[in-house]
Amino acid sequence: MKPIRVGLLGLGTVGSGTLEVLRRNREEIARRAGREIVVTQACARDLSKPRRAPLEGVRFMGDAKALVASPDIDIVVEVMGGESPARDLVLEAISHGKHVVTANKALLAKHGNAIFAAAHEKGVMVAFEAAVAGGVPIIKAIREGLSANRIEWLAGIINGTCNYILSEMRERGLAFDAVLAEAQRLGYAEANPSFDVGGIDAAHKLTILSAIAFGIPMQFDKAYVEGIDRLTATDIRYAEGLGYRIKLLGIARRAAGGIELRVHPTLVPAKRLLANVEGVMNAVLVNGDAVGPTLYYGRGAGAEPTASAVVADLVDVTRMATADPEHRVPHLAFQPDRLSSEPILPMGEVETACYLRLRALDRPGVLADVTRICADLSISIGAIFQKEAGEGEDVVDVVILTHRTYERSVNEAIRRIESLATIPAPVVRIRLEDLA
Ligand code: NAP
Ligand code: HSE
Repeated sequence: MKPIRVGLLGLGTVGSGTLEVLRRNREEIARRAGREIVVTQACARDLSKPRRAPLEGVRFMGDAKALVASPDIDIVVEVMGGESPARDLVLEAISHGKHVVTANKALLAKHGNAIFAAAHEKGVMVAFEAAVAGGVPIIKAIREGLSANRIEWLAGIINGTCNYILSEMRERGLAFDAVLAEAQRLGYAEANPSFDVGGIDAAHKLTILSAIAFGIPMQFDKAYVEGIDRLTATDIRYAEGLGYRIKLLGIARRAAGGIELRVHPTLVPAKRLLANVEGVMNAVLVNGDAVGPTLYYGRGAGAEPTASAVVADLVDVTRMATADPEHRVPHLAFQPDRLSSEPILPMGEVETACYLRLRALDRPGVLADVTRICADLSISIGAIFQKEAGEGEDVVDVVILTHRTYERSVNEAIRRIESLATIPAPVVRIRLEDLA
């Protein structure tokens, strides 16, 4: 059988990794796919830049439009990133009848509904394993492995850069900026690293996971997003002292009245497996009604881990290229005409436990005022700690752990606490999930 011909849109970290893995494991991959998978064209912006992977046998060009229109390409691999021109190029590739493999979660979270509709119409495949959790085959696991289940919730560490930063800050006491620079050097971070530390990249991935877990359209604009950029070493240390680790989690959950879709730093009990996922590793915990909790773990970023997922998609597409489109696995796990319109819950309606840290004047009655505010709002306090004042200081840290309560009640409690004359600084709120 003739080799299947691949065109790479982008030859950076993931593109070069893909070329390298396809080269190194060429024979093994052909034995799996049933025919050879060969990169014949690749494009980038700057053709003079030295490339990590050898380019012999590859037509290297600057014209991405020519690549997606080329009659000599069967599968377009989009690893350039960003929304534009990636969106138009992917739609153009589909219109030319090409299958697409992409690692671009921003593209799918924002434009996936249109892209999958176009692909369905044209009878081509769009595969995206690399878009979530790097080399961890979480898309296949949820879409195919768990298809018997009604999925109740999932919670994941799905940004390697943030997890790497949090681990290095906690374990080695390193400064945020220094660790971020190292994550960039290692090829983990997005072209715009504020997407990582601001939680946006995790929200892109969570949007994709929620679609395939619950059979809903991609709704990135309804996700609640909070990153790690305002986390302090003090809270990481206090959390540890209380038996928790802080992780940036993406959480999607079926709740009464709708679906929770949220990314934020989260206190997780240190004894949970998820709390012990360190460095660039990603992990996703998925709870199905039949199977119970299942955990998927591996490298969430980097050239070859991500290439592992891209190449797995290439093998899948190659195997299914000649199959009747009706017999393929639906892109988003559910049949496109059977998507649910269940709403995404506004954050105020979400219930979580919380860690609250207040800076309080060390005076009689201050804690009584704070606990009265909580009681008036039906917020049940699980634990409260006052740190000892430093020499000559009259402001102390007070940490409160609440039981599960509505976010809107905590918002109001924070507003009232901050208006007390004895509380001179904003309250720090970090949500807490038991994940039992
Ligand atoms: P990268 O290292 O910045 O590479 C991007 C490549 O695309 C570069 O070769 C760049 O060309 C090329 N490119 C960008 N805009 C272009 C344009 N308009 N026309 C032609 N070529 C263009 O990015 P990356 O880390 O490989 O990430 C690629 C995608 O994979 C992104 O969507 C990212 O979110 C996703 N992803 C990355 C990782 C990871 O660990 N890095 C993991 C999972 C998913 P030049 O080289 O000439 O600049
Ligand atoms: N910037 C992303 C991360 C790359 O750090 O997880 C993998 O998607």
